[in-house]
Amino acid sequence: MTLRITNETLPKFESDLEAQAYEKIRKEAFDYIARGAGDEATMQENLSAFDKWKIRPRVLRDVSKRDLTTSLFGTTQKTPILLAPIGVQRIAHPNGELASAGAAKSLGVPFVISSVSSYSMDEIAEASGNNTRWFQLYCSPENSVTESLVKRAEQNGYSAIVITVDTPQLGIRKSDHSNNYSPLAEGNGCGNYLSDAAFCGLLEKSPSEDMEAALIKQSELMDRHTLDWDILSEIRSYTKLPILLKGILHPEDAQLALEYGVDGIVVSNHGGRQLDHCISSLDALPDICQVVNGRIPVLLDSGIRSGVDVFKAIALGADAVLLGRPYIYGLAVDGEAGAKRIIENILHELEVSMTLAGVRSLSEINAGLLIKP
Ligand code: GLV
Repeated sequence: MTLRITNETLPKFESDLEAQAYEKIRKEAFDYIARGAGDEATMQENLSAFDKWKIRPRVLRDVSKRDLTTSLFGTTQKTPILLAPIGVQRIAHPNGELASAGAAKSLGVPFVISSVSSYSMDEIAEASGNNTRWFQLYCSPENSVTESLVKRAEQNGYSAIVITVDTPQLGIRKSDHSNNYSPLAEGNGCGNYLSDAAFCGLLEKSPSEDMEAALIKQSELMDRHTLDWDILSEIRSYTKLPILLKGILHPEDAQLALEYGVDGIVVSNHGGRQLDHCISSLDALPDICQVVNGRIPVLLDSGIRSGVDVFKAIALGADAVLLGRPYIYGLAVDGEAGAKRIIENILHELEVSMTLAGVRSLSEINAGLLIKP
């Protein structure tokens, strides 16, 4: 028997991890990452929704082998965890997404990179090597820029496009208002834009001549009030890659997603950063899975803090989950190694939880193993 000791340098529990990250980075950067919209009721709800469910384990089932693989769009993934698209990662660590890509690569965990990454998708692709990577898309009012971002993603080996649909504008993040802080205005989320020919074509002067004008133009492109379902045929005309919609919470939108030929859904409330007093992702999941009925993958983010949470999300129907804040805290504390340790710990806890609950594969994790006492 091998004794596996983890966390010698990083505490496992979110509260400690969060506190360590707080010590490492600027207060306004920490607040941007850690805090949510409004009263943070959605953010709290995301966590308490997981707590309400308890696991009802099975025993005597020969759990000597565990299979954590899952299939997504015809590709077998080693585990059901992906790294969520979180932008502006340089505010957490100077190596930002390059470090996260390295951590993801070393564990074989797919990385979904954000449109507003600090580094460009080309640089992140290089740091990712052969590891699976997807591109999260913020559509912009300038179709030429959206088209260029999508085509560059495909050329750079990103194998799915994840369109975020819950952000016609940013939610009200009170801490950012009181800190008077915007990482985009600081130039921490422009990696994909400043390296984009279509974007630069909109500028009167090159970014090196007038950075301020470039950042203002980028912020103008963040307005997505007019976005509607027609965007799907537009994006389809740019790429053959699978398209997922991230930010679906209502079963009728899941039904529409199917009708519009979407390839996958991410049940998400944006980590509680958008609409406050909103249903938690976990509570929204079962109705959406019922509508989808296995026709396309359903992923979940918002509230995953542990391997046990991953177990619960899978039991309620998710094919895979996206991990958000925890890996960014790991990144803040110790760069690539810190992000890696956090992901590794969560995977380890998932595997141990499967063993103790008497399941050998993800397909054996079902709703019968959960109960709301
Ligand atoms: C952007 O997507 C954010 O949540 O800040």
